[in-house]
Amino acid sequence: MRKKIVAGNWKMNTTLPEGLQLAKEVNEALAARTPKCGVIICVPFTHLAPIANEINAEKLGLGAENCADHRSGAYTGEVSAPMVASTGAQYVILGHSERRQYYGETSETLKEKVALALENNLTPIFCIGEVLEEREAGKHFEVVKAQIEEALFNLSAEDFSKLILAYEPVWAIGTGKTATDDQAQEIHAYIRGVIADKYGKEVAENTSILYGGSCKPSNAKALFAKPDVDGGLIGGASLKCADFMGIVDAWN
Ligand code: PGA
Repeated sequence: MRKKIVAGNWKMNTTLPEGLQLAKEVNEALAARTPKCGVIICVPFTHLAPIANEINAEKLGLGAENCADHRSGAYTGEVSAPMVASTGAQYVILGHSERRQYYGETSETLKEKVALALENNLTPIFCIGEVLEEREAGKHFEVVKAQIEEALFNLSAEDFSKLILAYEPVWAIGTGKTATDDQAQEIHAYIRGVIADKYGKEVAENTSILYGGSCKPSNAKALFAKPDVDGGLIGGASLKCADFMGIVDAWN
């Protein structure tokens, strides 16, 4: 059975003291619950090690929001997968649309990042999703298929099985405009089919596919009720403990 997951993506928010406070709140809220899903927070690089020291890793996973496409060396300002892993983090978001859009990330660089993440025992949370014009032109299926094929289909079935995917329609991210639960189900089922065609039904059935884009306590339950939606990647609503927990509790 594939894992149900709610993962926060803090993006470039919170100072270190603010982030530590938020992580402690989430950690305490989870200590008082038995969540029916895995819970992860993905935080800025600067916050990883201090947060790793404060949280119960049994109940709360920790991830970075990116990593470099090189192992080490003269790449000023970059943070490598081994560095992320050395903080105690277990996950890394890769291919987020904001990285693709603002920092020119391509399938070629993402391929390197995925390989380095896996080599360092980090679980990639790999993001895919179409922009509004592509959705309106009915091209969303081919866009996500190409994103998966180009960056991930070089992996062995064993390595592919280690990934978490996140479908995030770019037009729904931070806009308050969520995909409907039917739209999410339609494309999640399609993505699972694409995986099945390449790696077989068993791998596809075991891959967690999260939905991201204006997911909040009020719409999480309907989204998560869909058979191919295995949880959420949560931006804005992960910055308030009560909202984030409201989404975690949507699995109850
Ligand atoms: P949002 O962001 O929940 O604020 O729309 C989701 C994401 O970008 O991962």
